[in-house]
Amino acid sequence: MIASWLMSSRHAVVLTGAGMSTESGLPDFRSEKTGLWTRFNPQQLASTYALEHHRQAFIEFYQYRIRTLQACRPHEGHMILADWQRHGLIQEIVTQNVDGFHQQAGSRHVIELHGSLRTVHCQRCGNTFNSIVYLEQRFTCECGGFLRPSVVLFGEMLPEQALEQAWQAAQTTDVLIVLGSSLQVSPANQLPLVAKRNGAKIAIVNWEPTELDGIADVVIHKRKIGDVLREINKEWKARDGR
Ligand code: APR
Repeated sequence: MIASWLMSSRHAVVLTGAGMSTESGLPDFRSEKTGLWTRFNPQQLASTYALEHHRQAFIEFYQYRIRTLQACRPHEGHMILADWQRHGLIQEIVTQNVDGFHQQAGSRHVIELHGSLRTVHCQRCGNTFNSIVYLEQRFTCECGGFLRPSVVLFGEMLPEQALEQAWQAAQTTDVLIVLGSSLQVSPANQLPLVAKRNGAKIAIVNWEPTELDGIADVVIHKRKIGDVLREINKEWKARDGR
């Protein structure tokens, strides 16, 4: 079904969440036991408040996340999405993820709604560095400013341009596929609603039920995203005579 949607779509968009990267070894946020927010308190570690008032805990938390990220790689699902983009099956990828795996897998037009853990930037002068500096115990810019991860912290606004592009994509798409998001965080979770209002077909692939299953035309639970993408990919190639 989804393969035929993609083959006949005018402007397909994929919205990914942390569930897209668990098969790469990165924990998501809200899965039972393994999710980051079931083990750490996001307000105490991933917020503007933590940045200002719990600086040491903030640094240690992001060192842990950057170290985990360094040990992981995109999986076949990321490669499949990049291949679909090269063949014009999908146009844009809007991601809530900060791991940069879509770009590493070769995807272009990746809209990073929540920033990127690949870099840190100076709070004072804006200079950007590879986030590996956190593992080299470097937290201060040459100008003396504090270096913070280039991710959106709780309490911060999303990057204006990314939000604008994501909104545009949601208003333009005729097929929106959600991969691995509980759709609990705004404004990302508004995008499927915008797409639906504009007549798009919606598919949600997520291990557990999500807040927006009710508006989806297709919902796939209790299946790994990698397996679902491999299956759709196989069907597309068979239909396309590849
Ligand atoms: N296959 C299918 N679904 C999966 C897989 C998998 N391999 N792994 C995890 N999932 C599902 C989980 O069941 C879960 O419902 O992915 C979903 C991930 O949801 P969250 O952990 O809430 O992650 P996400 O929706 O991306 O969170 C949004 O919240 O804390 C903020 O900034 C953070 O970007 C994040 C945002």
